[in-house]
Amino acid sequence: MTWSTGIAESTLKTRVALVTGAAGGIGRGIAAHLAALGATVVLADRDRRGVDEAAAESGSTAVALDVTDSAACAAVVESIVAEHGQLDLLVHAAGILAAPPPDRPDDPIVPLLEQDDTGWARMLEVNLTGGFNVLRAAGRAMVAAGGGGAMVVLTSGGAVRPLPGRGAYCVAKAGLAMLVKSLADELAPAGVRVNAVAPGIIETPMTAPMLANPERAPLLALPPLGRFGRPEDVADVVAFLLGQGSAYVTGKTLYVDGGVFSG
Ligand SMILES: NC(=O)c1ccc[n+]([C@@H]2O[C@H](COP(=O)([O-])OP(=O)(O)OC[C@H]3O[C@@H](n4cnc5c(N)ncnc54)[C@H](O)[C@@H]3O)[C@@H](O)[C@H]2O)c1
Repeated sequence: MTWSTGIAESTLKTRVALVTGAAGGIGRGIAAHLAALGATVVLADRDRRGVDEAAAESGSTAVALDVTDSAACAAVVESIVAEHGQLDLLVHAAGILAAPPPDRPDDPIVPLLEQDDTGWARMLEVNLTGGFNVLRAAGRAMVAAGGGGAMVVLTSGGAVRPLPGRGAYCVAKAGLAMLVKSLADELAPAGVRVNAVAPGIIETPMTAPMLANPERAPLLALPPLGRFGRPEDVADVVAFLLGQGSAYVTGKTLYVDGGVFSG
């Protein structure tokens, strides 16, 4: 019997990875971790300046990409295959927490009855359709290449349990979680694994305003492990799900939340 070491480093070295949302806290952390493990990483984000900066930090390449543009998603994947010969790994971290009405553009808390049509459509367009655009493009390339692959999607505990004032986010993430399971089922025969990571509260630009706001304290109980998460907590788990150590795992969600769901 041959035992896999299960160590991400030994299995990611020759791999080519695309990370979306890579200018943000979690995506940036994941991209840096994968690059440190030896993967060739392409960082994508709609924030051109941020993604250039993030790529420079990890010695990788950057591309500007709005995930709501399906043709652009396909073009980015095609350009990666043209340049590197393959796309083995995808991490989809692009997302938005809220799309509030115009009279309170910075409010991250939008109860469903206060959500306007434009904001609702935007939440689904970015968080759900954006995921579909990216995963479909990557999946087509992986299946066509015939060498298998692995994808990890950042969902949320909100995909299975309502978060107060974040209904549209939760609905979109629940759709994304089902996209992961459906695609895992469809792509398993091609050796392409699709899993989700559902973070708890992770310290990033997305959560900084609420972590800095004492009025939000009731929503922010510390998890059983006694601290909020950091991007590196998520990056390690993502690397595991991309690597050979998880070769028999697909269609699953791993909760990286300091014990909230079991506590
Ligand atoms: N931080 C947390 O506590 C937490 C918890 C659960 C889930 N998540 C999920 O993890 C992922 C990363 O979160 P984060 O905390 O790093 O957030 P972040 O705001 O720091 O980063 C998100 C990134 O996505 C990019 N983005 C947004 N819309 C885009 C679009 N249309 N096209 C391309 N890029 C786009 C942003 O520019 C940003 O760089 C998100 O999907 C988020 O929903 C985060």
